[in-house]
Amino acid sequence: MNERPRRNRKSSVIRDMVRETELNVSDLIYPLFLVDGKGIEVPIASMPGIARYSEDLLLRQIEECVQLGLKSFVIFPAVEDSLKDQEASYAMRSDNFYLRTIRSIKQRFPEVCLMSDVAMDPYSSDGHDGYVRNGKIDNDLTLPILGRMAIHQAEAGIDIVGPSDMMDGRVQHIREALDAAGFTDTSIMSYTAKYASAYYGPFRDALDSAPKFGDKKTYQMDPANKREALREAALDEAEGADYLMVKPALCYLDVIQTLKENSTLPVSAYNVSGEYAMLKAAGEKGWINYDKAMPEMLLSIKRAGADIILTYFAKEYAQLKVES
Ligand code: PBG
Repeated sequence: MNERPRRNRKSSVIRDMVRETELNVSDLIYPLFLVDGKGIEVPIASMPGIARYSEDLLLRQIEECVQLGLKSFVIFPAVEDSLKDQEASYAMRSDNFYLRTIRSIKQRFPEVCLMSDVAMDPYSSDGHDGYVRNGKIDNDLTLPILGRMAIHQAEAGIDIVGPSDMMDGRVQHIREALDAAGFTDTSIMSYTAKYASAYYGPFRDALDSAPKFGDKKTYQMDPANKREALREAALDEAEGADYLMVKPALCYLDVIQTLKENSTLPVSAYNVSGEYAMLKAAGEKGWINYDKAMPEMLLSIKRAGADIILTYFAKEYAQLKVES
């Protein structure tokens, strides 16, 4: 035999030398759930290890992460039902707890990278990402709302706004709104190919943001479609996105690879709540070696082509890295 691939696996030094993919803590963005109040930590049953935190305890979480070298976060607000309305108007109150907390984080930890969620659902009495008119999601009435939401977040100090709503034309609308308000340095990470997925269930528990009627299939993508992701990517690029995102990650590794091969923009992937819950549950039951399966899962997303991974495993992965 001339060819013996095993020779390149014969020792750990050699394996380290020929390794093709490396997953770094600096590749990760850690999603955090925020509630109004003080001293509040409400664990999310379907996401063991993840909780909704009030600002004081969220700041403590961020401090622990920063010490582990994890410095990028995306913050999602869990808003009380009484503050939700059809227009998501609470998002536009500059003293709301979400914007207040963004300012506090930036003041305490100026070096961290903060990403926001731009969509109506956390603030909407209809639980939809867009404006509901006559029982339908109205694309063009949603755009100005998203634009104003993004400006408020940029004002509070957000580094990257993350439109997760899947309305047509929103990246361009948000880019123009930000530029007109003087926020030319605020980046946009577009949820380019966000699929209508069953894997968002635990997240909707966390935010209590499930749609009050119907589903999200008129705006989120059909899990059967890959070429359509290229169409969305071309639009996001033309409209001024700084990053493309695929969401969820695991069932869509092929989509991640396709976007990576067809774009020069950085590609991110959102390893979503249901993906986290599955692995946690199997680990808790002792059906899988969690400490080994978790880095393998993250590595697969990186290997598929993601430059950046949004994942609830981020803090634990950083802890594992520090220990090893
Ligand atoms: C909604 C939004 C969702 C997630 C992030 N932003 C859920 C949805 O579309 O219903 C899901 C994240 C996750 O499941 O971890 N704007």
